[in-house]
Amino acid sequence: MQPVKFVDLGEQYLAHREEILAAFDKVSREGSYVLGSEVSAFESEFASYCGAKYAVGVGNGSDALLLSLLALGVGPGDEVITAPNSFVATAWAIAHTGARIVFADLGGDMNIAPEDVASAITESTKVILPVHLTGRIADMSPIQEIAARHGLFIVEDAAQAVGAEYKGCRAGSFGHCAGFSLHPLKNLHVHGDGGIITTDDDRVYEYALKYRNHGLRNRDECEFWGINSRLDSIQAAIGRIKLSYLDEWNEIHRSIARRYSDALADLVKVPVDRPYELPVYHRYMIRTPRRNELQSFLTEKGIETKVNYPVPLHLQPAAADLGYRVGSFPVAEELTDTILSLPVYPELAAHQVDQVIDAVRAFFTS
Ligand SMILES: Cc1ncc(COP(=O)(O)O)c(C=O)c1O
Repeated sequence: MQPVKFVDLGEQYLAHREEILAAFDKVSREGSYVLGSEVSAFESEFASYCGAKYAVGVGNGSDALLLSLLALGVGPGDEVITAPNSFVATAWAIAHTGARIVFADLGGDMNIAPEDVASAITESTKVILPVHLTGRIADMSPIQEIAARHGLFIVEDAAQAVGAEYKGCRAGSFGHCAGFSLHPLKNLHVHGDGGIITTDDDRVYEYALKYRNHGLRNRDECEFWGINSRLDSIQAAIGRIKLSYLDEWNEIHRSIARRYSDALADLVKVPVDRPYELPVYHRYMIRTPRRNELQSFLTEKGIETKVNYPVPLHLQPAAADLGYRVGSFPVAEELTDTILSLPVYPELAAHQVDQVIDAVRAFFTS
């Protein structure tokens, strides 16, 4: 049996090599390597894909979240409520504004639970930052209602969810801003680091454009101290190519997810889509109390899997000063011990999906 990789970026490159090389050639000949026309074109295509007015390309998804929060005026003395089961960048972005990170536990969809968000609100809360984990949009209608009732901003962490839909709208269109990652492991990715912000807000848009470029108003005039977090032209050109395939790839993700769910639902907990949502299955996560044994068994069979994420954010050493402990968020902690991500990517062949299914079934039935 051939090993089954968790992702196979080389395969995707080979499938689109001609287009990518042509983009590289075009950008190289034009000689504009940072920002420029490819970035502006990618930004407007990405904004319209998400159903947002504007998009601003930045250096990575972490900065996309940081800039979104800073653009909304978040800083010391403010609190931002988010999910404890995310990549560290979610909490990092909040911490770097000087605001306090406040976690709220999860619902059955593995995303932040609206009722827990509501009970975490204090006088200092400024933003709710839901994470659309695994490419499934958080339960946005009640979250939007809570935000409106308390006069709070919403920033979506949509790093894993380009193209995901909820009640007919796409990730990046629910909050005041959204931060996306274009990291190579994301469903829409470039060939290096990259990130992008969406917003409908003119003021946020203008701020993000300047902030990503040192706070420069023009070449010589600096309005405030920003940072250097610009998107490269070549990355934007590759992003444009990949965006044109994204719906097709997301559909393949969903069909792999359906095959896994149909074949494994009697053995493990599988994700169940709500009737009004269309997840993109950036990750396909099963849940079982025998997770560690299953993962070792699959590794022996040459099947690569991952745990996203093995340590919840509130129990990270970096979060020690926030005062959380084991037991603070039981749903998130239970997930940490039971989740396992199986391989999902557009180049995963049908026989490899069968190989994964057979191996998981063999583990439980032998
Ligand atoms: C949920 C989430 N938020 C934020 C990020 C940060 O993105 P980047 O790695 O592009 O900085 C990631 C990606 O790793 C992520 O998965």
